[in-house]
Amino acid sequence: MEVATVNWVAFVVPIAVATIIIFISAMMARGRRRTERSPRARPPPVAAGAPLVGVLPWLLAKGPLQVIRDAHAELGSVFTVRLLRREVTFLVGPDVSSHFFQGLDSEVSQDEVSRFTVPTFGPGVAFDVDLATRREQIRFFGDAMKPAKLRTYAGLMVREVEEYFTRWGESGTVDLKQELGHLVTLVASRCLFGEEVRSKMLREAATHLRELNDGMRLVTILFPHLPIPAHRRRDRARARLGEIFSDMVRTRRESGRPVDDMLQCLIDSRYKDGRATTDTELVGMLVSALFAGQHTSSSTGTWTGARLLAGANAEHLRAAVREQERVVARHGDRVDYEVLQEMETLHRSVKEALRLHPPAMMLLRHARRSFVVRTREGDEYEVPEGRTVASPMVIHNRLPRVYRDPERYEPGRFGPGRGEDGAGGALSYTAFGGGRHACVGEAFAYMQIKVIWSHLLRNFEMEMVSPFPETDWNVVMPGPKGKVMLRYKRRKKMSPTAQITNPHTRYVL
Ligand code: HEM
Repeated sequence: MEVATVNWVAFVVPIAVATIIIFISAMMARGRRRTERSPRARPPPVAAGAPLVGVLPWLLAKGPLQVIRDAHAELGSVFTVRLLRREVTFLVGPDVSSHFFQGLDSEVSQDEVSRFTVPTFGPGVAFDVDLATRREQIRFFGDAMKPAKLRTYAGLMVREVEEYFTRWGESGTVDLKQELGHLVTLVASRCLFGEEVRSKMLREAATHLRELNDGMRLVTILFPHLPIPAHRRRDRARARLGEIFSDMVRTRRESGRPVDDMLQCLIDSRYKDGRATTDTELVGMLVSALFAGQHTSSSTGTWTGARLLAGANAEHLRAAVREQERVVARHGDRVDYEVLQEMETLHRSVKEALRLHPPAMMLLRHARRSFVVRTREGDEYEVPEGRTVASPMVIHNRLPRVYRDPERYEPGRFGPGRGEDGAGGALSYTAFGGGRHACVGEAFAYMQIKVIWSHLLRNFEMEMVSPFPETDWNVVMPGPKGKVMLRYKRRKKMSPTAQITNPHTRYVL
């Protein structure tokens, strides 16, 4: 009996002590959070709006981008915009963004503001599952994007791109936006699930993917199930994609044949508790990966071309072509993972296109707890619990205090001796997000766009024959508006005297 009592005491006392310590630490942490908050912290200033509807009239008249720009110009780096009954606090610039990007999910969360994506991605993944499951699924993507895997994908990408451009004639005029939309889907699908489904992707799945994209409208954020034609098409497309990908997963599982693609990585992935991915999750992950990479990469590829081929940027085009010549001189026609790493000028050209044309206007979070931000001017603002918080990439990456002459396309700003994106710390450049939820597909996306543009620069003389595209801001993921017409002529072989033309300049390299 005595022994039992001692055992009991030995067991319970440490637990009780540990509980008290945890409780006291939690209270102290809470207290610290409260006392950290300076009494000087005020609510963020509110942008002018009409009674009841807030900025709605301005939004309809000027569009979302101008409303945000005007509020930023008038109120500074922290401000609130009221739209109907919803308030959104904007945080602009690296100085006020660390909590947004690096805060714990329990404090600034994506869940509440991202549920509108559930009809697009489908069940079992992304914002249809709890955070712990989602994080594990993102880890699966991360594992599928490790350098060893990227090396394999590089080879697949090069083959796909070379094959694709054999379809172009000796000369012609094409819509670059449409071509790259198509090509990026093919490249991504080859890396995701191998060659066997390429032809199927080409015919059917690519169309459904476009319908998924098209089904993500601004209105979708507030009313994801509103019975509008675009949502109906989205739902039909998601259902059909589900069938196509389910077949593919089943066939792969049955074949038992080892394949070195992303689907196989996801099939072989295991949750921490040892559980394997289900078919529903696999289908959702395939749709999510295609969706996450398709529009973003094809739009960035198109902007890169539009920028490089614009008359004002002849020197940047020349630099990109010269780099290809140097690479050809060193490696001949071979393009692989290592060779792609050497294309730094091209890399910076893509990065700069993305700085000016991020494929999302803003990133969103929900404040589960209030927090204080301090501006570089020393003002402190308290963002209240329950508030929707936004980081408008479209302004964030064009701040004159970070980027010299920010509206200019200037890839050299990321080059040696300048490194402007490092000037304001890690969060100065957020086209791929940053901190806790930074994009896991960044290296894959760069590789894909570089493979495409390396091929184009080496093999074609090009000029843009339509005006420089405007941005379509009226969609969740803005891209170039209308057609982006490119005239091309096949060159015999890249040589140091190759000619590149554009509508405004004609020069010999
Ligand atoms: C040019 C191409 C791309 C751009 C500009 C881009 C941009 C972004 C951005 C801005 C975020 C952060 C979202 C946030 O903080 O709310 C993000 C996250 C993410 N991206 Fe990308 N992305 C690209 C390509 C890809 C590709 C090819 C994949 C392939 C799977 C991918 C997968 C993801 C995933 C899984 C996340 C979520 C990470 C997390 O929440 O921890 N992205 N991306």
